[in-house]
Amino acid sequence: MTVFLNGEFMPLAEAHISPLDRGFLFGDGVYEVIPAYAGKLFRIEQHLDRLDNSLNGIRLRNPYSKLEWTQILTQLIDLQGYENHSIYLQVTRGADSKRDHSFPSDNVKPTVFIMSNELLSTPVATRHDGVCAITKPDDRWQHCDIKAITLLANILLRQQATDQGCTETLLTRDNKVIEGAASNIFIVADNVIKTPGKGQQLLPGITRDLILEIAEQQHMDTFEGDISIDELFSADEVWISSSTKEVLPVISIDEKPVGDGVPGPVWQKMVHYYADYKQRLVAGEIS
Ligand code: PDD
Repeated sequence: MTVFLNGEFMPLAEAHISPLDRGFLFGDGVYEVIPAYAGKLFRIEQHLDRLDNSLNGIRLRNPYSKLEWTQILTQLIDLQGYENHSIYLQVTRGADSKRDHSFPSDNVKPTVFIMSNELLSTPVATRHDGVCAITKPDDRWQHCDIKAITLLANILLRQQATDQGCTETLLTRDNKVIEGAASNIFIVADNVIKTPGKGQQLLPGITRDLILEIAEQQHMDTFEGDISIDELFSADEVWISSSTKEVLPVISIDEKPVGDGVPGPVWQKMVHYYADYKQRLVAGEIS
């Protein structure tokens, strides 16, 4: 696998970083996960805007312009031997000569690492059957809108779902559902597609925004705002969304069935429109 590290493309085995890198010592960095289908970067403008916001959020200068990022990412995916990619990029505050919580001096350069893995879509059977989820209180920090590499809380929360044979942990706070440990959440109630509003409590998902955009284009009713735990449990449908999972139906939460306990008709429509969007991207009709 060819990866990108600090300005150079190289085999993964040759990519080395200092143990003093602040990403390693402190989790002091941000990241993005960007899909590419048939070599076409998916919603690249939006992903790079979010990267900019995350970097601003941790007071780290963006090392590249949008054009430079796009060129590097395009070059990286062209070097891989498969069609669909899940690109992972991370920028950390670099490696100083010592460990100190305070920022290093300006001459310490950020570390930029990028790799691409083959994007393997969720198996058709899983999509068709839907997945289960659990709920847990959200014990993450107060800046979940920053896509920080510091993911210990998310990892511990997600693992509890994995331990129970489920796909995702839905996070609750102040009697509301916020998002998943690594996904955004949607519910459908009385044919309205609802998702929590953006703010510091959740990551502004690129897939989330696209789902809302598609819904509006298709004249489906949408709502962005608080969703109570009661609404979650009485919803007709529940979906989770992310760059790697796209839109997945949740058919049970904490062992209670969602709606009829099978993927619902509104999800069926959305997944069709989503596939159509991807096809138009690959055909070069949209960027
Ligand atoms: N995670 N919320 C959280 C906490 C996430 O980690 C993610 C994505 C999302 C969905 O965002 P998007 O639609 O832009 O992928 C929401 C990525 C995929 C990850 O950490 O691997």
